[in-house]
Amino acid sequence: MTVPTKKTRVFSGIQPSGALHIGNYLGAIQQWVAGQGQKTNFICVVDLHAITVPQEPAALRQQTRELTALLIACGIDPQQTTLFVQSHVRAHAECCWILNCVTPLGWLERMTQYKQKAQKQESVLVGLLDYPILQAADILLYDTDEVPIGEDQKQHVELTRDIAQRFNYQFGETFVVPKPVIRESGARIMGLNDPTAKMSKSDTVRGHAIRITDGPDEIKYAIKRAVTDAHSQISFSSDPERAGVNNLLQIYQLFTGKTRPEIEAHFAGKGYGALKGDLMDVITESLRPIRERYQHLLADPAELDRLLAIGAEQARAVAEPKCREVLERVGFLRPS
Ligand code: TYM
Repeated sequence: MTVPTKKTRVFSGIQPSGALHIGNYLGAIQQWVAGQGQKTNFICVVDLHAITVPQEPAALRQQTRELTALLIACGIDPQQTTLFVQSHVRAHAECCWILNCVTPLGWLERMTQYKQKAQKQESVLVGLLDYPILQAADILLYDTDEVPIGEDQKQHVELTRDIAQRFNYQFGETFVVPKPVIRESGARIMGLNDPTAKMSKSDTVRGHAIRITDGPDEIKYAIKRAVTDAHSQISFSSDPERAGVNNLLQIYQLFTGKTRPEIEAHFAGKGYGALKGDLMDVITESLRPIRERYQHLLADPAELDRLLAIGAEQARAVAEPKCREVLERVGFLRPS
């Protein structure tokens, strides 16, 4: 008799805090779409995380719907992926509290993202420090095997592993210890205007990022001005001096699905003008159908809310029993 193997569980999250760019798409969303069907996917719109920096309530609500529409437009299929909003499943906040009580403060103070974000805030909210523990709760509640992310989230998943192991050691085997999944190309898409800095939502300088909803004019503007170098050969490279061209080539690779040797052969003997021209076309044509689907989906907010209600119900069916197990492990008397 063959024992049926459990499908790999995948969990990832994304913040509804501002316009998504091609870094989010190529580093994370494209991976989520690729794994659909073969794996059990949970994708979470993390509104509880978004409020760790101040948000305008009406804008947050709108952005939550917009992000849901955009994820579906990018290829997340709510029939194959449990797509839901974090605050719709209370177990996330509840489990976070328990994990707060097994995690040493020093582990959080070391987090690079916390240090970077805290520097920019006049007054740092406690939630910003606690952010990675909520992320650990997200992941651990679903017995997650794999967490597909961009490189900037790796430290948070490593912390999640440490928290899971510590809890398991103190209270007995409870959590699956997850592993981060990071692509070789696309792990860290860099700013087009400055290839030494990660492409980021918070950098709103025109030409820094290409947003997933950008049309041909914005794409052209950003690619035309994208930083290159004084070399002439178009090849993938880890040389920091060639970071701009390497970034453009990675973007080209991920939008076309071609291999690195195929791409280098295609551009052999050509100049940066050819690379930029082809790249503009490829990005414009790849984003066009996403933008069209997005506009269409946004026009029906009631349908988005309906899909999210189904997602929340599916997520609760997994997260709530897991959270109960956690509460029992730590010794809480359960209500009869
Ligand atoms: P967020 O919303 O900042 O980003 C969503 C995803 O996009 C990836 N990403 C990038 N990848 C490549 N190049 C870039 N320039 C780039 N910028 C962003 C991020 O790595 C991420 O995968 N803390 C998370 C959300 C979260 C989460 C989770 C993720 C909450 N709970 C549980 C995984 C599992 C965040 O703020 O992602």
